[in-house]
Amino acid sequence: MEKKKYYITTPIYYPSANFHIGHCYTTVSADCLARFKKQNGYDVYFLTGSDEHGLKIQKKATEAGVSPQEYVDKIIADAKDLWKTLNINYDKFIRTTDDYHVAIVQKIFKKLYDQGDIYKGEYKGLYCTPCESFWTETQLVDGKCPDCGREVSEVSEEAYFFRLSKYQDRLVDYIESHPEFIQPVSRKNEMLNNFIKPGLEDLCVSRTTFTWGIPVTFDNKHVIYVWIDALSNYISALGYLTEDDSLFKKYWPADLHIVGKEIVRFHTIIWPCLLMALDLPLPKQVFGHGWLIINGGKISKSLGNYRDPREYVKLYGVDAIRYYLLREVPFGSDGNFSEELLVTRYNTDLANTVGNLVNRTLSMLTKYFDGIILKSDVKTEFDDDLINLVVGTKKKVKDYMDKLEIPEALDAIFDIFRRCNKYIDETTPWLLAKEENKDKLKTVLYNLLEAIRIGAVLLEAFLPDTSKEILRELNTKETSYSDLEKFGLLEENIHINDFKPIFMRIEKKDE
Ligand code: MSP
Repeated sequence: MEKKKYYITTPIYYPSANFHIGHCYTTVSADCLARFKKQNGYDVYFLTGSDEHGLKIQKKATEAGVSPQEYVDKIIADAKDLWKTLNINYDKFIRTTDDYHVAIVQKIFKKLYDQGDIYKGEYKGLYCTPCESFWTETQLVDGKCPDCGREVSEVSEEAYFFRLSKYQDRLVDYIESHPEFIQPVSRKNEMLNNFIKPGLEDLCVSRTTFTWGIPVTFDNKHVIYVWIDALSNYISALGYLTEDDSLFKKYWPADLHIVGKEIVRFHTIIWPCLLMALDLPLPKQVFGHGWLIINGGKISKSLGNYRDPREYVKLYGVDAIRYYLLREVPFGSDGNFSEELLVTRYNTDLANTVGNLVNRTLSMLTKYFDGIILKSDVKTEFDDDLINLVVGTKKKVKDYMDKLEIPEALDAIFDIFRRCNKYIDETTPWLLAKEENKDKLKTVLYNLLEAIRIGAVLLEAFLPDTSKEILRELNTKETSYSDLEKFGLLEENIHINDFKPIFMRIEKKDE
């Protein structure tokens, strides 16, 4: 049977020499969902990339004394390194400076112009000459430029416009008849009531005040507005409007665009209207997640309140960071990040719950049975309860993941490990050993190891390295996701591999 396809995207990132933990949030979440869908048998395509045009980049490059292209090339190498460090398993990394993307965006612009959805007009606005920036009345601070505080002047500039207003009614109908399109539902209401229903104005989609952008082919003093350029990445990456558009035919429409809450607006207004103009189906869902904040405020370079995420990885390991990002904050809400919270999570869940469980269990197996996994027919009164919870977890995780409730799904897996720890307290294997109750002891250790195996397979999408390491230590070939409702597949008479504590407790500085 042909696999069902699943196309998932992150936003493409602004090249920033200062990636922070907030940037990792979208991508780690998307990576987890992509891996999960793969485990569930989907043919997944996971896209990420970088959004490299615009005045800001041009200015930064000038400040750095290099060309914009040189400036972005260096940062993109760094971004890819960050994603590698975080174990992000994307299928494609698109850059908006890639030739094929540039050509497709130009074709899209021309197509819309030819069919009358883009027209030439005049852009009137408030302009700050030193900053080369246009501002609206409401963006000004005390009537002055919000960036440099200097006077702004009214100017008008020739520009191209996209007929956003033409699509307003169709967009409202679509959003109202597809309740799953914008999630969580609070963001859908915000978009409809605050932005769309009050009225959409045509959108200015070209600029002549800077050059670092994709030129309009038929009027090349204009460069294409960065959001038109950037949003098109989701289809240009698949070869839309090219000779080989097989990926586009296979994967479009996207199943899920995961984006931060501040860019939901672009993804649920400009993007669907563009797609309607191109006569293409709309993405099935745009999910706007919340922000990671530090001490209740923004993660900010000027406040210097964060470190490069790779430093946390060096200190605590990649899965500790993934765990924090996936577990701490309800997906959709804002949540705090601090190193202290990270260490607390690490100690309670990773070191105490799963790390300690695996280490204790493998140590007991080594001590009592020379590291050989054995079974027996003798039961304990606590087995059924443990086994029922373990075999029911795959379904629970799937139900949560289908609703994008990632922290709840991860916690359901940790219920297995917590239940195992309780099972050790209930069955007291060290007493069984003293009593020479070998058969019961075999059962207890086998049940623990089998529960750990199932938990480890389920962890793959969330903490891939931890999952792999636990399964390696167990020396099992039973790593398939499809049979996790069956308890008892872990092989008998197998010798476990060498093992070490997978998460060492971290002593807090103040302790
Ligand atoms: N370039 C645009 C996206 C274009 S998509 C066609 C952009 N880039 S960004 O680099 O500013 O942001 C990329 C992602 O990182 C966004 O989803 C954004 O919400 C996310 N985050 C940046 N800071 C964040 C936090 N502090 N917390 C969580 N996510 C945040 O927007």
